[in-house]
Amino acid sequence: MRIFLDTANLEELKKAAAWGIVDGVTTNPSLIAKEGKPIEEQVRAICDIIDGDISAEVVSTEFKAMVEEGRKLSKIHKNIIVKLPLIRDGVQACKLLQGEGIRTNVTLCFQAGQGLLVAKAGAYIVSPFVGRIDDMGAEGMILIQDLVQIYRNYGYKTQILAASLRSTNHVIQAAKAGAHIGTLPFKTLDSLFNHPLTEKGLDAFLKDYAKVFGNK
Ligand code: E4P
Repeated sequence: MRIFLDTANLEELKKAAAWGIVDGVTTNPSLIAKEGKPIEEQVRAICDIIDGDISAEVVSTEFKAMVEEGRKLSKIHKNIIVKLPLIRDGVQACKLLQGEGIRTNVTLCFQAGQGLLVAKAGAYIVSPFVGRIDDMGAEGMILIQDLVQIYRNYGYKTQILAASLRSTNHVIQAAKAGAHIGTLPFKTLDSLFNHPLTEKGLDAFLKDYAKVFGNK
């Protein structure tokens, strides 16, 4: 599973990039707004840090405006993936932009039927939101499982990006279900490293070694 970071924060991106395990970045208008810089500027800076797919989302909601905005965003850097909301105009814009060779990520997918439409439009990525479905009291991971099955049944090439992953368990379940990509906030990625037995084991190894050879 490819791992993307779900943040527009440059410090978080630099820290995680150093670990060598980040394959891309997803942003959305809320995450860009949090950093206080215009999207073109922020996304260009992100492209300088991470060499991988970088999703940049349009804020237009009408077909022609979405296409224009998408074309403009795609010119920022070769790694830009144009992110479009899963509304009628967004799916239509996806079909057109993909036809022009511009890769798209159709976001805000909450049911498998929506995901079927995205695959039929030829999107590069679909983004189903696991955590937000859980927030409604339902089981978000079922959507990932359903999409994996449906896309496999018909050989759709669209990659399933499990989004809104908020815990290590979410990440593990998404990987087990066969999501192509998982996008994680920095905090979730950081917590994937942790296990009390790893810390305890390392502590014991170092103490045993030091008893015989001393501290280096
Ligand atoms: C994905 O592209 C979204 O930016 C993100 O995963 C949403 O996560 P949230 O529901 O935790 O805000």
